Amino acid sequence: MTKPAGYFITLEGGEGVGKTTNVEFITAQLDAAAIPWIKTREPGGTPLAEAIRGLLLSKDTDTPSDLTELLLMFAARAQHLDKVIRPALEKGTWVICDRFTDASYAYQGGGRGQSETKLEVLEQLVHSDLQPNLTFLLDMPVEAASLRVDSRGQQRDRFEQEQLDFFQRVRDAYLKRAHQHPLRFRVVDASLNLQAVQKQVKDYLQPLIDEALATRSRA
Ligand code: TMP
Repeated sequence: MTKPAGYFITLEGGEGVGKTTNVEFITAQLDAAAIPWIKTREPGGTPLAEAIRGLLLSKDTDTPSDLTELLLMFAARAQHLDKVIRPALEKGTWVICDRFTDASYAYQGGGRGQSETKLEVLEQLVHSDLQPNLTFLLDMPVEAASLRVDSRGQQRDRFEQEQLDFFQRVRDAYLKRAHQHPLRFRVVDASLNLQAVQKQVKDYLQPLIDEALATRSRA
């Protein structure tokens, strides 16, 4: 019998919405169900893609043009898919990924104003056959999210230093994606306290876990 493919789960949202904490929460739920998983992130996830991430987030390098930024995001993604995401899914390992192509629609599309046509062409080229099974959009007002970024006390990277109107366009683009893909997206109100946020995440995740356990017991 062929091994069932793993599920591909992505987490999306602006800066400061709590993606990292929720990745940890999801992997703890998978551990409790004895489901194998890896966690990874974009841009990044392989040595080459992490090097591209360094270039993209740095404020010290030659600032990339908007098109260069878009192409570098997809170059890192192609490497990540080839070396990490696809092999894991084929083995039946779940992949929990902190950002994926929806982030390009939100940041390079909404934020920078790159056309949807360009995004669609690149998406088609890089992963026409593969979409996440489930995407959590952690959504909250941009002003509150920005205060959370400040409270970390770290230097802001090249994206984090953008202005609120940029992040409002990013948020709007994410919500538009969620509206366009209602079966894949689950919008989580990230402005609530941690316990309330995690309850929403668990409620949305549990059906997938139940499905995987049922498949396992039939195998
Ligand atoms: P992180 O802060 O969530 O680790 O992500 C790094 C930054 O990269 C974040 O500011 C969003 C940005 N980004 C894009 O602009 N486009 C993309 O496709 C991805 C994956 C991330």
